[in-house]
Formats: sequence, structure tokens, C-alpha cells
Amino acid sequence: MDNDQLLRELTEFLRIPSISTLSAHDRDCRRAAEWVAAELRRLGCTDVQLLASETHPVVWGVGPVVPGAPTLVIYGHYDVQPPDPLDEWTTPPFEPTVRDGRLYARGSADDKGQVFCLLKAIQAGGAPRVNFRFLIEGEEEHGSKVLFDLLKREPHRVQADAVLVADMAYFAPGWPAVYSALRGLCYAEISVRTSKTDLHSGEYGGAAPNAHEELCRLLGRLKGPDGKINIPGLYQAVKPPTTAERAAWRRLPFKEKAFLDQQVQAKALAGIKKYSVLERLWALPTFEIHGIMGGFTGQGAKTVIPAQATAKVSLRLVPNQKMKTVEKQLRAAVKKLAPKYVDATVTFLHGADPAQMKLSNPVFQKLGRAFKEVVGRAPVAARAGGSIPIVPALASAGAPVVMTGIGLPDDRLHAPNEKLDLQQLWDGIQVFRRFYELLGD
Ligand code: BES
Ligand code: MN
Ligand code: MN
Repeated sequence: MDNDQLLRELTEFLRIPSISTLSAHDRDCRRAAEWVAAELRRLGCTDVQLLASETHPVVWGVGPVVPGAPTLVIYGHYDVQPPDPLDEWTTPPFEPTVRDGRLYARGSADDKGQVFCLLKAIQAGGAPRVNFRFLIEGEEEHGSKVLFDLLKREPHRVQADAVLVADMAYFAPGWPAVYSALRGLCYAEISVRTSKTDLHSGEYGGAAPNAHEELCRLLGRLKGPDGKINIPGLYQAVKPPTTAERAAWRRLPFKEKAFLDQQVQAKALAGIKKYSVLERLWALPTFEIHGIMGGFTGQGAKTVIPAQATAKVSLRLVPNQKMKTVEKQLRAAVKKLAPKYVDATVTFLHGADPAQMKLSNPVFQKLGRAFKEVVGRAPVAARAGGSIPIVPALASAGAPVVMTGIGLPDDRLHAPNEKLDLQQLWDGIQVFRRFYELLGD
């Protein structure tokens, strides 16, 4: 294959600002879906459709029929996260640029570059020996509602011998990974109101309650300085990793100091000290505050006591926890921890159950062999801290879901200067080409 040609094609895909969470980009999401659909037609798919939404359709495709061959569903997403803060990008997010063998653009790693890799691996392989099905959605970064509804109505679309998801990364450079678990998510807004309207902070300060102060105290109570989340019942369902898993994680090439200095780039790590960092990332729930709104944040100074304040928060959930249960537990905790004179409400925005996958199906050995042959090392078994809401539904018809990826841990997903190392892409195309071939044997 001609790498320059491939790069031109991927660049075209990455130029489309398909930001699913911003309605101003609805047409761009549609355009990205059409780009994928055209690509599927080029691959010889007989049945290509844009399903279930005008603005964020699921791209469905059925590859050429190979009688007697196994069926593989390829899942991915063409939507991306908003690119802000824009001034931190060295080159603009939707003007893909190569520097030092890396392709910089929003979506380069998450997930357009990886979708591209899975599709080009089919093209690289010649006549398919697998029955391909494609489910490429446009709402993953926004909760996957369109695809959830589609699969509820039409569960047969995930009837297959395996599902392939390449929306993760290597564990470390040179160390491909296959994932046995993803965390779930419960995203919500916590609002507090302390008075009918804002008040003059001189006239009333000292005697009136302050919404921001109450919100801060409430948030401070929800998670202690030791990292423990103070939501009654939250840890009850948490299934600890097995002894074998803990031992395997200790053997992974993970250095706490390098993780702190090169990835987190902070002065210290946080979280519950008695657990290893990987256990904190993979096997324990989290509580994060994403932003706090309300009060006065404009230029200059305004002496006001805000009547209202809202925080956007989320919890990551680990195997055995249920999103619906955690939502109830969060509501109950907020009710319990807010003082009587504060109106505190929780508005649920979106979420996902955690996913777990046994790596025992023979399909995982084939993936292992493909990686070993092409990049010299079979994937290590890891878990992911991130979430892909639809994965439990992809597994609902019983097919094993193979979760892997060609990105690297420093790809800066969702952040400025997201990138994909081109060598990872070229290797990835060969890895999946070989994987498809082994599947067809
Ligand atoms: N590809 C990521 C998920 C991911 C990231 C898995 C890193 C493993 C390692 C996905 O696109 C993503 O960002 N998911 C969101 C889901 C949410 C918006 C419902 C997430 O995890 O925040
Ligand atoms: Mn993704
Ligand atoms: Mn993402």
C-alpha cells in the first residue's frame, strides 16, 4: 500500500469536525458518516446504510459474503471530542499535520485513525476470508444513545463470532494490549440553591448562606483528602481483582515515577494510597469534578453572594457496579450530606455500565499471534480506565468482544495536540490484516 496515499485519505477524514456533543456540528457528523459509508462501499460492502439518526447516524455495512467463514463485527466511532482550548494546539485540530512521524489532529487516535486502520487492513488483505459487519457510530463521545436504541430494536446486528473494537492504546511503546475490562460512568450535575436571588455581600455577608461555599463543602464531603469516596454503599459491589490479576499487573512495564513525570505531569499522584496505581486506575471507582458554574467569574470584581451553584461531576465504575445503582447512591449521598437549609439536586446526564470480558476465547490467541508476528510481542492483558458505553450491548448476543488498539499512552485523547504515531498505524494495518487472515483459517 502507498503510505502517502493512505495519509491523504486519513487527512480527509480528520478534516471533518465531527464533534457529536455540539449541535452546530450536526452536519459535520453526517459528513463523517458519509465518508465512512463511501469507504465501506469501496471495500465491496453490498449493504451500506446510515441508520437511526439524520444527524448522528450509525454506519452499517455488510461485507462480501464468504460462505462458511466466521462473522466479525467491527465497531468504532467517527465522532470526536471538542478541541478546546484551541490556543494550546501547535497546529489547528482539524488541519491534520505530520511532525516527527506523528499525525496531529483531533480524532487521530480517538477513534478515526483507528477506524481507518481496521478498514485499510481489510483492503491490504485482498479477497476477504471473513464475513465483515460494520457498526461505526457517531455518538460514542456523547453516550451512544442512537446505537443503544438501534441494538435494543435490532439485536441481531451483533450476532457474530467476534466483535472487534480498536479504541484503546498499547500499554506502553512496544507493548500491545488486549483489554479485559472497561470502567463504566455516571455523569451528573449537582446544583445547590441557598437563597431566592443573589445578595450584596456587604449588606448580607456574615449572615446569609453562600451557594458556592455550600457546594464546595458538599463536594469536599463527597470525597475525602485520602481519596476515599464518601457515598454510602458505593464500594459494596466492587469486585476486587484476583490475586493472579494483581500479580500480572505487577509484572507490567509500569513505573510510577515515569507515569507521574511523563503522563500526569503533576507534582504527586492522588488516590487511596494503600492500592497500587494500576488498581486505582482499573479496579476502583472514581469521583471527579469537571467544572463548577455560577456566581461571578467575569472580569474585575463584583461583591455578590451567589444564590446558586452547579458542579459537573462523574464517577467511573468498575466491574460488578451498576450505573443505575450508583446514580441512586449519589442522589442519596447528596441529600444526606447537604445541610437542611440548602436545596441540593442531582441531574443525571449520561452513563454506562462497566464491561468485563474473559480472554479465553480462541479469537484472543489469534490476535496475540498477529501482534507477535508483526510487532514482535503478543498483547499483555490489561484493563482500561476509560469507558465505551456500548460494549456491554455489543457483547449481548454472546460474541467475545476483542478490545485492543494501536494508539500509545501519550496520544493525548480529548486534549490539545492529540496525535497518532504513523508507525503505529502502518504496523496496525499489518496486525489486523494478519488477524483477519487467521480468523478466516
Ligand atoms: N476511546 C475512549 C475510551 C478509552 C480511552 C478506552 C482510553 C480506553 C482507554 C472513548 O472514546 C471515550 O473517550 N469514552 C468516553 C465515554 C463517555 C463520553 C461516555 C470516556 O471514557 O470518557
Ligand atoms: Mn474512543
Ligand atoms: Mn473518546
